[in-house]
Amino acid sequence: MKFAYAPAPERVRPQLRERYGLFIDGRWTAPKSERYMETINPADETRIAEVAYGDAQDVDRAVRAARKGFERWSKLSPADRAKLIYRIARAITERSRELAVLESLDGGKPIRESRDFDIPTSAAHFFYYAGWADKLEWALRAQRAPEPIGVCGQIVPWNFPLLMAAWKVAPALACGNTVVLKPAETTPLTALALAQIVEEADLPAGVVNVVTGDGATGAALVDHDGVDKIAFTGSTEVGKIIQRRIAGKGKRLTLELGGKAANVVFADAALDQAVEGIVQGIYFNQGHVCCAGSRLLVEESVHDDVVERLTNRIRTLRLGDPLDKNTDIGAINSRVQLEKIRELVRAGIEQGATLVQAECELPARGFFFPASFFTNVHPSHRVAREEIFGPVLAVMTFRTPDEAIDKANNTPYGLSAGVWTAQGSKNMWVAQHLRAGVVWCNTFNKFDPSSPFGGYKESGFGREGGVHGLREYLKHA
Ligand code: NAI
Ligand code: MG
Repeated sequence: MKFAYAPAPERVRPQLRERYGLFIDGRWTAPKSERYMETINPADETRIAEVAYGDAQDVDRAVRAARKGFERWSKLSPADRAKLIYRIARAITERSRELAVLESLDGGKPIRESRDFDIPTSAAHFFYYAGWADKLEWALRAQRAPEPIGVCGQIVPWNFPLLMAAWKVAPALACGNTVVLKPAETTPLTALALAQIVEEADLPAGVVNVVTGDGATGAALVDHDGVDKIAFTGSTEVGKIIQRRIAGKGKRLTLELGGKAANVVFADAALDQAVEGIVQGIYFNQGHVCCAGSRLLVEESVHDDVVERLTNRIRTLRLGDPLDKNTDIGAINSRVQLEKIRELVRAGIEQGATLVQAECELPARGFFFPASFFTNVHPSHRVAREEIFGPVLAVMTFRTPDEAIDKANNTPYGLSAGVWTAQGSKNMWVAQHLRAGVVWCNTFNKFDPSSPFGGYKESGFGREGGVHGLREYLKHA
């Protein structure tokens, strides 16, 4: 088997195995099914490696290992747990370049983003939660000693593979839980690299287990009686299935699901900055972002001005090889996702919205979609209501702050929102009236481990990040 890499200025080549097993009980092991899946590079459709397909038997092995691991890990002194989590954090930092390349190779995101955002933020989460490990009683002012929940099944998506794993694994370990992590089918490689890091950091066997596979693997984890908590990030559809599956079983659950965030721009905003925020809000990671600012609500009097600036700005975005550090728009994560984006864009055109698209040549191979937005969008259009999860923005207008709030909240989702205005009081007023877990004021897509993240309504429940994120991994917090 030969490995194919995208030809690019990036010189670091991650060390890849041809074939990856499952990481269970501190060891690499073959899947019971003896089945393997390919993971490809979405920028050129070449195979990168094979990863094990974990089935219900493998999930069972992993959950049993996590239960055994729990006996040791939960009894370790909090300071010793902290030391081991710090080790993971340092190893991510030391291997950051390699991890960034791996993330971009496997998932298609621009190397600049994996280098400057995904990997450092993943390390930051481990550093942050390592710091809490021996301060839980203080942090939560608990009446009794905080107790971990037990074995946590953690299912993550493909848009921020290592970062979503870090959001889940770091707080779980800090609180004394053990985990079975199920990465997404198209982006397993950084989770497997995390397993290698855990192995080298000498964590007790069974504390972190990684079982690769697909939706059925995730479902087996959800259904397993030995799992005490499920933490899921992914589609609202699957989130609802999971909620039904575990109803009445006494398992703890946190769900971080889809979004259709409004980015609200008032006429008095600094428009140049707002346009940068709009671009960052929708084109970051090709729009594969649950909190993407995918609905632009712009005050009517500046609509034409903003649309003109945006049209000019998207012409300057460079689409192409994810491993080129000058690339702004990388590859769409999978063929399936590309088809979904195309279908919704077709629906937008058919329903009467006007498509504005950056003219650029798309690479001959791989999955790509140019930076796009729709004007003349009606709130009933599919592009205004459904999560596209691609580089496609729906532009709508409003006349008064009340109308802006009504339109922004007119969605089954409630994960994030943005507000752009020069007036502090207006910022605060709008933020207070938006039903969204995170509201960014005069900025967008800013993250910090100390800041909680999570949804309202069909965007899910529970919080990740900050002290709030700790409570989700403790019995009586
Ligand atoms: P998905 O929700 O199917 O996949 C997310 C994870 O859940 C993957 O690891 C998958 O293997 C696992 N999974 C799938 N079915 C499962 C089940 N029945 N039980 C347990 N685990 C299961 O998302 P998918 O199909 O990759 O993307 C579909 C759409 O979902 C996207 O177009 C996007 O709109 C949205 N999405 C939202 C994300 C977010 O961050 N909120 C992330 C990924 C997708
Ligand atoms: Mg891949």
